[in-house]
Amino acid sequence: MEKGVVFKNICKKHGASVALADVSFSIKKGEFFSILGPSGCGKTTLLRLLAGFDHPDSGQIFLDGVDITALPSNRRPINTVFQNYALFPHLTIWENIAFGLRIAKRPESVIKSEVERMLHLIQMPEHAHKKPDQISGGQKQRVAIARALVNHPQVLLLDEPLAALDLKLRQKMLIDLDHIHDEVGITFIFVTHDQTEAMSVSDRIAVLHKGHLEQIGSPIQIYEAPESHFVADFIGDTNFFDGRVTQKIEKDYSLLTLRDFPDIYCFNDKQLSANEFVHLSVRPEKIHISRNRPEPIPFVNCFEAVVSEVIYKGDHTNYGVLVGSRKISITKQHRHFLLDEKTLQWEDRVWIWWYADDGFILERNEDLT
Ligand SMILES: Nc1ncnc2c1ncn2[C@@H]1O[C@H](COP(=O)(O)OP(=O)(O)O)[C@@H](O)[C@H]1O
Ligand SMILES: [Mg+2]
Repeated sequence: MEKGVVFKNICKKHGASVALADVSFSIKKGEFFSILGPSGCGKTTLLRLLAGFDHPDSGQIFLDGVDITALPSNRRPINTVFQNYALFPHLTIWENIAFGLRIAKRPESVIKSEVERMLHLIQMPEHAHKKPDQISGGQKQRVAIARALVNHPQVLLLDEPLAALDLKLRQKMLIDLDHIHDEVGITFIFVTHDQTEAMSVSDRIAVLHKGHLEQIGSPIQIYEAPESHFVADFIGDTNFFDGRVTQKIEKDYSLLTLRDFPDIYCFNDKQLSANEFVHLSVRPEKIHISRNRPEPIPFVNCFEAVVSEVIYKGDHTNYGVLVGSRKISITKQHRHFLLDEKTLQWEDRVWIWWYADDGFILERNEDLT
């Protein structure tokens, strides 16, 4: 069996409510892997099963090919970092990091060199003598990570470790985490409900929804090629179009007919057949917007619209436009000095267009009616 963590047909109920329903996937050794999903989807339950704090009702967990499902938590080479740090307030940073090694009765010389190594890893040697209440939230979180890494686990679990920090600090901690991961090279499993956090550091992401695995893939796969309505909606913003294939054009393109929108060309990578019902997702940044009508290009969807919403965000603007009664979201980056441009205003008549190849047909066509 492959190296790393394998979840096989994991089921877990809390009382009558199903927290995990037949979840199977694997995490490669050394990966920075994220488990992403809204609150209550089963992320913490899954981590607790892997750490051994709790046991599945059925299914198995493997680490490097060994079945660890029945192994007690203290015999698993897995450590967890929690959101609330859980540092000992009366101990210094040095002693907090040393704690696990003291419990393991390691020789004093080993404790000293390992704690020094960790203090350097988290770039805090000068804070070693302080108590937890004398350092910042971000520093506490780094100490918690050092404490979890000091006895060389094979897997580090991080359960929403940044949730208590403000935005700027979260972004800095993500970069620090990425460096620490590069440095120690072990498997990191990072749990978050925040898609931007997951996207920015992960090798791969598993998206959970109501105890089911929705999709697993690289951040780019998850964002650009969501397989379900839920993933497309949860990861970023998108425009959904629900329609029927009315015509196959050449071998690569189909024409969709919709109830509330003019016909749309879409790229035909899913082997669509005529009359099939499909969902198309088009991300807001894939749609162009301008006052002037573009030159006609084959397989470009181009429509006249009216601006109904303008939200300036500094580096970009989010537009809502109406095509008939249907609202479409568009994001436009500002590549030129904006004060020199005549910006689009509410009620302006505009043209919007996107290349058929830039839409994405969802794999699972759930009936949304
Ligand atoms: N100890 C528990 N007792 C009862 N229900 C629980 C318990 N722990 C979790 N749950 C329920 O299981 C589901 C998954 O919870 P959890 O794994 O904590 O989700 P997440 O970490 O994604 O927010 C939720 O519906 C939650 O209410
Ligand atoms: Mg949780």
